[in-house]
Formats: sequence, C-alpha cells, structure tokens
Amino acid sequence: MVEALGVAVIGFGWMGRVHTQAYARVRHHYPQLPLRPELITVAEEVPGRAEEAAERFGFASATRNWREVAADPRVGAVSVTAPNFLHREIGVAMAEAGKHLWIEKPVGLTLADARAVADAVAAAGVQAAVGFNYRNAPAVEAARDLIASGSIGTVTHARIRLFSDYAAHPESALTWRYERERGGSGVLGDLASHGADLARFLLGDITALTADTAVFVPERARPTGATAGHARAAGGVPGPVENEDYVGCLLRFASGARGVLEACRVSVGEQNNYGFEVHGTRGAVFWDFRRMNELGVSRGTAYQDQPVSTVYVGPGDGDFAAFQPGAANAMGFDDLKVVEAYRFLRSVAEGTPHGAGLPDAVRSAAALEAMARSAESGTWVTVRTPS
Ligand SMILES: NC(=O)c1ccc[n+]([C@@H]2O[C@H](COP(=O)([O-])OP(=O)(O)OC[C@H]3O[C@@H](n4cnc5c(N)ncnc54)[C@H](O)[C@@H]3O)[C@@H](O)[C@H]2O)c1
Repeated sequence: MVEALGVAVIGFGWMGRVHTQAYARVRHHYPQLPLRPELITVAEEVPGRAEEAAERFGFASATRNWREVAADPRVGAVSVTAPNFLHREIGVAMAEAGKHLWIEKPVGLTLADARAVADAVAAAGVQAAVGFNYRNAPAVEAARDLIASGSIGTVTHARIRLFSDYAAHPESALTWRYERERGGSGVLGDLASHGADLARFLLGDITALTADTAVFVPERARPTGATAGHARAAGGVPGPVENEDYVGCLLRFASGARGVLEACRVSVGEQNNYGFEVHGTRGAVFWDFRRMNELGVSRGTAYQDQPVSTVYVGPGDGDFAAFQPGAANAMGFDDLKVVEAYRFLRSVAEGTPHGAGLPDAVRSAAALEAMARSAESGTWVTVRTPS
C-alpha cells in the first residue's frame, strides 16, 4: 500500500527547487517506493518567493516563517535547503518536532553544528539524509565497488579535485556564502565537504591531514536586493570576503593510502571540474563529474604502459537502471537528487537509514575542521574521529 507523506521545503533557491523536483519525480523512477510525497508547504524569507514556488510547483501553502513548518501536523518530512548558518537551528527544531530531515551539506557552519543536528535526529528517532549527491552517481558507486574488489590492487594514492569558477567574477555579490557567520568556512563547506565525503566513500576514514587555505578575491560588492545562487552586484558597497576561496590538502587514510584534496571556487576556466583519480598497485580509476556516466579504468598485470579504457556505466551500476535502459544514455545532476530523495524516503518507510546520513556529515565536518586547524597551525593534524 502506498501512503502519503507530507513534505516541506525550507529555503527556495537552487537546492530548494531541486529537492522539490526530486519529490515530484521520485515515484516515476522508483515505483516500488511505498510513500508518495505530497508538497505541503514551502518556507522562504524573500517576500513573494514562497508564493511563487507554491504556484509553480504545487505546494498547498507558502510561508515566510520556517517555524510554522515545525508546528504543521500535515508535514512529516522537511528539506532544509536554506543557507548554512540556518542548518543547525532549523535541523534541530524539525527533528525535535518529529519531522524526518533531508538536509543539505555541509550541515551547519562547524563540526559542533553537524553534531548538534545528528544528536537531535538520534534523540528524536527520525530518519535523515544529507546532500552528498556526488556519491549517488552510478559511476562513483561503480568506482567504489571496483576499488573494494581489489581489481586495481592495493590503493596507494588518490587525488580529489573540486574546481569551480562560480565565485571567480569580481562582481559576484557578497552573499551569505562569503561571511563567516552565515556561510562558515567558504570553499571548505561549499566544495571540500563533498570532497571529504567522496574520499571517505571511496577509500575509508581519513586519519590525518595538512592543509593550506587562501582568499584570492578579498572584497566583493554588497547586494542591494534579494539574491539566490551566485548573483552579481556591480557598483554595490564593497565588503570583505571572510572565508576561504581555496584549500589544498594532503591526506592520510587509515588504510595507509595517501591523498591530495584541492578545492577552489575562483578557478577561472573551470566549470564544475569535480572528480578523482585513485591509483592502486595494479591499476587506476578516474572520474570526472562533467562526464558523469563514464569511468576511466586501467587494470591488468602490465604495470607499465597499461592502457586506460573508457567504461560507460549501465543498468548494473548503482541506481542507473531507475533512469536509463542502457549504458551511455546520460543521467544528469538533478537525477542524483532523485536518487537521494529515494534513499531518504526509503529510510522513512523502512525506519532504517539508506544513503548518506548525518554520521557522514559529522565525519566530513571533522575533516573540514581539521583542515582549518592545520591551515592555522601550519602542521599535520589528526582528524578527530567522532564517537
Ligand atoms: N548538494 C549540492 O551539490 C549543493 C549545491 C548547492 C548548494 N548546496 C547547499 O544547499 C544550501 C542552499 O544553497 P543554494 O545554492 O540553494 O542557495 P541559494 O542562496 O540559492 O538559496 C537559499 C535560499 O534560502 C533562502 N533563505 C534564507 N534565509 C531564510 C530563512 N530564514 N527562511 C527561509 N528561507 C531562507 C534564501 O532567500 C534563498 O532563496 C546550502 O547549504 C548549500 O551548501 C548543496
């Protein structure tokens, strides 16, 4: 029997829209899901934006006050897609109100914030999912399986990169993203959080690291009106960028493998250049988000001059079969959010977690916190493994 589950979305920028569309599409791709999400309400502080979202996407109601969502008995699950500084307050309030939680990365500004949300979720006994969508790509799951099977030998070293130009324009507005109080640690929370999650997902726990950070665009113009996404603000009053544009980091894994994680939000000429290269004693595996459905794979016994093949993921890999009938029919970014919605709602239906959850967010936040400590001290630091 299919039961209805009332859902709400808090914060209707890019991610608010993508979560909403994922709720709308999830049963098209996963007809076995015993829950049917119903769009109950959308909360958004910019005047008119919630009403517009309700009208366009079919929410039954709209509000400017997210606290009304916690008190709404029609709502069983909530997407938290507001800026990072609100994750803790909203996440804890929703869990305490007994709502299941689909919350965006990095889950707050700090390790303490991620832990607070994780604790509230555990105490309330609700289910939670976190927006580490890149691990949902079938090619990433295939890479993980390949690595775990030993087919590239013992992993020796890996490089994880997240280069983007979304903040490269000197006129991009000084939004919440560039403030410590509302955006947290800049590119660390924005992009390196995904990188830390991917590193763990593929290679296991990170035990120690050393990092260097930098701000390359020290001032930006304050926006004069409401913003969403990466708005421009030419001619506005300039203000300081308070958090990192760049992080470069050396990693040590519990397995003994070594890694490099590099993330930058002001890389001119780079659009979503996210990916990894994992090397083992007998082979290697390569992934690039911009060619999301392909893997480069080198395996065999040649060691030297060993060829690299392009492998297109297909219905046997991850959740590919829920989207496309055969290899080389492309899945896209929004599909990764549909996979995430499915795993979240399946967790709710079964009362047991599936997919990336708050323990993963806490571990990613622990790595980010270690990067910040190391950048300050200039030394190697231990990643505090959360209990
Ligand atoms: N998983 C991913 O790949 C991914 C990609 C982008 C962003 N994110 C995360 O999603 C979150 C949102 O990012 P975005 O790119 O959608 O940002 P955005 O700026 O486009 O949207 C945020 C929205 O929240 C609204 N908002 C602010 N304060 C609010 C309040 N008190 N109540 C209700 N709404 C409020 C803003 O007006 C805006 O519309 C961030 O935490 C970000 O890190 C994740």
